[in-house]
Amino acid sequence: MAEVVIVPDEAAAGALVADAIVGLIGGKPDAVLGLATGSTPLPVYRALAARIAETGLDVSRVRGFALDEYVGLPPGHPESYRSVITREVVEPLGLAPGLVHVPDGRPVGIRTAAADYERAIREAGGVDLQILGVGRTGHIGFNEPGSSMASRTRVKTLTEPTRIDNARFFDSIDEVPMHCITQGIGTILDARHLVLLAFGAAKAPAVAAAVEGPVTSSQPGSAIQLHEHVTVVVDEAAAADL
Ligand code: GLP
Repeated sequence: MAEVVIVPDEAAAGALVADAIVGLIGGKPDAVLGLATGSTPLPVYRALAARIAETGLDVSRVRGFALDEYVGLPPGHPESYRSVITREVVEPLGLAPGLVHVPDGRPVGIRTAAADYERAIREAGGVDLQILGVGRTGHIGFNEPGSSMASRTRVKTLTEPTRIDNARFFDSIDEVPMHCITQGIGTILDARHLVLLAFGAAKAPAVAAAVEGPVTSSQPGSAIQLHEHVTVVVDEAAAADL
């Protein structure tokens, strides 16, 4: 059963999760963080950057693995998750860029890239703390409804609702890629601690499905119920259907 923490606002959520990550790194200076993109984790990264600046915590050995990447964006595109992770996480936190990994979304050799990513996570000893958002469709990472609970890193097709939601980061929906490479649900479940965040009323149904609904591949977020150490951090609006 997930521990559900209802916080007053996104800043409080960010502070709470940042404190947990600071504690983790304090005890394990080469901790492995599972990094999510999207708007939801940004308060965590901001609070964490502030904590690191205040405390002088040594993060030079911290490692990171992003959940997913678009397939086929030109290298260096500002909305590629490689660019986003660099801009929102690596630079503000002062992490070593070579220790922070994002799946390789170049179409050529993509199957090899998926297998390589799985191997890299394994060789790092697995993810200590995985930050998760949840999509309106219930997706975690880019595991859209229908994804197997045992899935590993692979190429997926994005659903139309997800492309519409993510069009806000692009000039038009036509620029949103059709495909992605994402850690599988099985990959995500291998992390030692899952921290799922959600804010706002639009996420309430996906949060309720994840926390209380039947465990089903039509709601990928419900996979968190298969994990023994899960913390769900939500505001009142996102908790409304619990
Ligand atoms: C994105 C990401 C997910 C993220 C989700 C929610 O497309 N691939 O990792 O959790 O959709 O996004 P947001 O946090 O912006 O609502």
